[in-house]
Amino acid sequence: MKDILDKLEQRRSEARLGGGEKRIIAQHQKGKLTARERIDLLLDEGSFEEFDMFVQHRCVDFGMDKAPKSPGDGVVTGWGTVNGRTVFVFAKDFTVLGGSLSETHAEKIHKIQDMALKMRAPIIGLYDSGGARIQEGVASLAGYAEVFRRNVEASGVIPQISLIMGPCAGGDVYSPAMTDFIFMVRETSYMYVTGPDVVKTVTNEIVSHEELGGASIHTTKSSIADGAFDNDVEALLQVRRLIDFLPANNRAGSPEWPSFDDPARVENSLDTLIPDHPNKPYDIKELILKVVDEGDFFEISPKHAGNIVTGFGRIEGRTVGFVANQPMVLAGVLDSDASRKAARFVRFCDSFEIPIVTFVDVPGFLPGTAQEYGGLIKHGAKLLFAYSQCTVPLVTCITRKAFGGAYDVMASKHIGGDVNYAWPSAQIAVMGAKGAVEIIFRGGTPEEIAEKTKEYEDRFMSPFVAAERGYIDEVIMPHSTRRRIARALAMLRTKTVERPWRKHDNIPL
Ligand code: HXC
Repeated sequence: MKDILDKLEQRRSEARLGGGEKRIIAQHQKGKLTARERIDLLLDEGSFEEFDMFVQHRCVDFGMDKAPKSPGDGVVTGWGTVNGRTVFVFAKDFTVLGGSLSETHAEKIHKIQDMALKMRAPIIGLYDSGGARIQEGVASLAGYAEVFRRNVEASGVIPQISLIMGPCAGGDVYSPAMTDFIFMVRETSYMYVTGPDVVKTVTNEIVSHEELGGASIHTTKSSIADGAFDNDVEALLQVRRLIDFLPANNRAGSPEWPSFDDPARVENSLDTLIPDHPNKPYDIKELILKVVDEGDFFEISPKHAGNIVTGFGRIEGRTVGFVANQPMVLAGVLDSDASRKAARFVRFCDSFEIPIVTFVDVPGFLPGTAQEYGGLIKHGAKLLFAYSQCTVPLVTCITRKAFGGAYDVMASKHIGGDVNYAWPSAQIAVMGAKGAVEIIFRGGTPEEIAEKTKEYEDRFMSPFVAAERGYIDEVIMPHSTRRRIARALAMLRTKTVERPWRKHDNIPL
């Protein structure tokens, strides 16, 4: 018996070495951890239960029958806990044939995807891979497609998170793209459909891996990634932090953590947050940080479309999604990027029953040919559609400007806002006073324009015209914003909305 036990231990030790000492050293020299080291950091200590450690590929082409086989076949899979809550995980092992995806490697991922969906628990994929196992050809393509199909099946049922920690090329890119969040590690990770060599052959462009698909590109220009971290350790710890905000599935409701922050906490400094001059910016994140429990806010896509802020915080220990126009960037205007970014976030929250708090300070939609040619109408409609479709509690607070169509879009009463507050500094109007007067009194003298602007401001640039009509439920003191939102969310916990049957909607994609 002892022999058998020793043999098992020996086989396990071999499997844990993946592609061998030499390749592990090479992995470390690139500043990357191995798949197993990453899983150990991601999960609670000692909680990892591995599946399919001894799986091997079945390929016999291109000398693969003679090459030494690595148990596990380039991906480590299993489950464990994050602060006591079950998650499923797969981590590509770059030390085994560059983490490339073979038929058996794919089957391991399918198994873990099926388990995660069956158990209604989140799944996290750690990517470090050269794409399809070139020696296996079409079997890899089939393996990928079955991963994709499962991603779609699980979308909106369990949270799916991808962390790119090395190359992520070819077939590997589409699975992350269909998950809820993608994070990258700066300098060591890159994502692209086709690499720099193919790009050069086809388009004559010469680009580096970083320029083509590094974290600097995907968190800013392309918006493929929702955030980037400096190294593997930070990335894994931040994903743990994110998991703490997320429900296990679309039915479980958000986790409730103990909070020592009084929901009725008064923040007197908010009474002076809005500058005297209407065009002077202020940082909306200050408001968010002062409203959430213990100032703990997990921002999504901070480097892309900074004119809108999205992210998770908690109130009374329960997760809330925040969407807020940011006056510090482009005066908080809604453009195509901001609309898309917020729409995706709103849909995530609604899928997983996370209430949404919206802070509004928006001068309108961004004018210009660049925006119109880029499809502003459709992108703006995405956000309008996403909010209108929500069945989760929606609490809105207008801090300053709420102009034109952007007022309607930003979780207004008319599209489903449940509790709509405004600060006394709010200006709810069809457009800014000067613009309005210049249209109504075209050709007027500067004195007339100034006089009419003042008149327009006095009549419309306040929350009271909207409040008189019931579009605003209450004009609140800035210092009591946290208390008012906490009470509104507590009241809205039993919100129930029934929508008419349909197969699915047709959101303007
Ligand atoms: C088999 C692979 C591999 C792959 C890497 N390796 N990619 N083996 N299939 N796709 C192996 C290497 O042979 C090497 O083996 C080890 O992994 C490490 O690779 P290196 O090239 O030494 O590492 P590095 O210099 O860091 O370069 C990483 C890399 C490069 C940029 C990812 O390996 C690369 O370009 N690989 C090919 C990428 C690619 O074209 N993939 C196919 C995409 S097509 P040894 O034994 O030396 O350690 C695709 C279509 C699917 O995915 C579409 C489905 C929808």
